[in-house]
Amino acid sequence: MLVLAIETSCDDTGAAVVQDGRRILSNIVLSQIPIHKKYGGVVPELASRKHIESIVPMVTEALNQARVKLREIDGIAVTNGPGLVGSLLVGISFAKSLSLATGIPLIGINHIEGHLSAIFLEKAPPRFPFIGLVVSGGHTSLYRMDGFGKLKRLGQTRDDAAGEAFDKVAKLLGLGYPGGPVIDELSRKGDARAIRFPRPSLSKNSFDFSFSGLKTAVVNYVKANPEPPVGYPEDRLRDLVSSFQEAVVDVLVKKTIQLARHEELKKVVLCGGVAANHRLRERMMEEASQDKIKVFIPHPLFCTDNAAMVGVLGYEYLKRGIQSPLSLNAFSSLPL
Ligand code: KG4
Ligand code: ZN
Repeated sequence: MLVLAIETSCDDTGAAVVQDGRRILSNIVLSQIPIHKKYGGVVPELASRKHIESIVPMVTEALNQARVKLREIDGIAVTNGPGLVGSLLVGISFAKSLSLATGIPLIGINHIEGHLSAIFLEKAPPRFPFIGLVVSGGHTSLYRMDGFGKLKRLGQTRDDAAGEAFDKVAKLLGLGYPGGPVIDELSRKGDARAIRFPRPSLSKNSFDFSFSGLKTAVVNYVKANPEPPVGYPEDRLRDLVSSFQEAVVDVLVKKTIQLARHEELKKVVLCGGVAANHRLRERMMEEASQDKIKVFIPHPLFCTDNAAMVGVLGYEYLKRGIQSPLSLNAFSSLPL
């Protein structure tokens, strides 16, 4: 089964052709970072305008690279939430028009379930059930996944998402947007024990997260330790971001392992943009191995937003005869 997948939930225009939900025939992503960088974050209006410009050439290119004709496609999968409504609408309107014109079945996909399914693009994916940690710019949640469409959310952030904390701290330090990859790189040569930032942990029995206090702790540290005249010297900056990153990673790792123990599961899947973070990957592997828990992390290309992950789910649902009507709509917060 060939699925044409489309992802426009935020600031990446993604198009892919995936065979039988596992084999990528093409997967292209057009990042809008150069457009949003100067504003220090995603500007929704600019994002949707750019999606409109890119969607036709991106889908055409995905079909060309896959060497597949539109008439050979068995299903069109498109992200319909959560995300920026204006951005989502571009992908959805395009997918609906294509479905109406060709008669190819349409299926709307939840972006978070898409992230959790990216692991099935890897050579040796886990068997269900497993614990899934979704860490992105908009989400930080823990799930128990018993199958496609069989998910239970067991924890989530009460305020900022982990990626949002990375982005806000980077902005504060003048490091540009998005902050995650910059902090990840800078921290490689920093001392993670230089500054002891708080490890925000709600009660022991809760699997929820909270990152806004940690962000405030970084703001307070910078206020209390100003470095004239134009910012932090390189070594101090490395120590600062490295210490911040360590605090985020500590909490993510601790809660995930705690939940795996609680659910008596020996498999953990990391996904979402922050799962590309080298320290999170390293620490999760180390700590999990002590509990004989196996950690599965998609290739960094499939951690950040992409359409191939949408193609995995499109296949799984269409195979089960599940389709969406042409009244499919965009939802900024689509519960999962
Ligand atoms: O999944 P994603 O591409 O989009 C959303 O659905 O939000 O995630 C983007 C987020 C941004 O906040 C970005 O700073 C963060 O993922 N990110 C990282 C890294 N790469 C991307 N955070 C930490 N370390 C990284 N290497
Ligand atoms: Zn995402």
